Amino acid sequence: MFLKLFLPKGNVALVEGGHILRGVIEISGGKNASLPCLAASILSAETSTIENIPFITDIGCMLDILTHIGSKVVLHESSKSVSITPNVACPVIPSELSKRMRASTLLLGSLLATYGYAKIEGYGGCPIGKRPIDLHLRAFKLLGAKITMKENFIEVSARKLKGAKINFNFPSVGATENALLASCMADGKTILTNVAIEPEVLDLVNMLKAMGADIVVDVNKRTIIVNGCRDLEGCRHRVIPDRIEVGTYAVASAITYGNIQLCKLNTCHIAEVIKKLVNMGVTIDIISCGHIRVIVEEEELRSTDIITRPYPGFPTDMQPQFTSLATKARGTSYITETIYENRFLHVPELKKMGAKISIVDQRTIAIKGPTILKGSSLHAKDIRGGMALVLAALSAQGVSYIDGVEHIWRGYENFIEKLEKVGAKVRVIDSV
Ligand code: EPZ
Repeated sequence: MFLKLFLPKGNVALVEGGHILRGVIEISGGKNASLPCLAASILSAETSTIENIPFITDIGCMLDILTHIGSKVVLHESSKSVSITPNVACPVIPSELSKRMRASTLLLGSLLATYGYAKIEGYGGCPIGKRPIDLHLRAFKLLGAKITMKENFIEVSARKLKGAKINFNFPSVGATENALLASCMADGKTILTNVAIEPEVLDLVNMLKAMGADIVVDVNKRTIIVNGCRDLEGCRHRVIPDRIEVGTYAVASAITYGNIQLCKLNTCHIAEVIKKLVNMGVTIDIISCGHIRVIVEEEELRSTDIITRPYPGFPTDMQPQFTSLATKARGTSYITETIYENRFLHVPELKKMGAKISIVDQRTIAIKGPTILKGSSLHAKDIRGGMALVLAALSAQGVSYIDGVEHIWRGYENFIEKLEKVGAKVRVIDSV
């Protein structure tokens, strides 16, 4: 069980606030880049090796799913890579695996393309909204698949998929990825319009092209053309760095008025986040395209306004972390979440610490600062919201206990060790 390998060694993060963070953090491979690439590995009967994989629980779950299907999965811990030799013996993913994360839905596309059938017994993901998969299923239907959706399972089948014109009424990351996985071996041409162009989607395209897929992307028009091919080959692919991890540790430096260097990243993927940090008075030294320094040279951080948008807009996965940062900024910051309808789960927890946050409307909050936050007992309820609590605790007076650390472990490789390395007093304990 790969999932067990990556499970946290405790349930509660104990964070002693008030320490200025200084030092160097190496960024891991992207969670949201690795998951679709791992799903793509079963599109060929040949072995593929995927490098720069973060050893986090979502990856462990995906590797267990691939093993369950029948693939041979070999983990190379030293090189942080995984080799997958696909074999589809069982295209049904049981709930104990499929419900652990939303990315299990990506097996629908890749199994449909190779095996012509897939069934997942539900899917999981952070409780940040309803998160339907209607756009995924509509794409499969347009490609000629039969869909059966019941209370506790989703089933897709097709003798042979046929190229189609698919327009997404929202540039959904997962639906774009699933349409790519399903269409690359369909008969004929598929034209995808109003697609997501997140770096993780383009990284999947790069892997599929390395496997021999015929894909042309026009990011300006948000269009992808896929000419289906007969079969694909195995490949070696290195996933892109985790841009949300970069943003998260940049906020860790800013919120503690620290001086952290971040390396093994790609600055092109975080332009909007850098812009907002600078807007708040943070200095970002671009040492190279893969290496930055984050420091606060000003007296005080300044408030800012944020509206989350599909890429290249401000990423929703950085909204909770900036909510925490805004508590330290002078003035009132307005943050509007346009992607998810329930992504303020961290707000009541921050208010326990003394944060002055008011609800403007269902999608907008106002954060007044600067506030001195107090260490408290807190509950992490999702990946990014949980990490936002860790960031707030780093800057608070006193000790905080954050339970639900398993949420954070889904998306941040070795976050305790990475923070300790730059001077944070943080550890994981079994219970308070
Ligand atoms: C991916 O989720 C990421 N997860 C999310 O990161 C990220 O927040 C999101 O993209 C947006 O960038 C992974 O890549 C594994 P969407 P995904 O489809 O694909 C609605 C994290 O913390 N929608 O772009 O699920 C949906 O409800 C996670 O790492 C439909 O209505 O995102 C949401 O409101 C959280 N119907 C919005 O679109 C659909 O069929 C964005 O969803 C699909 C989506």
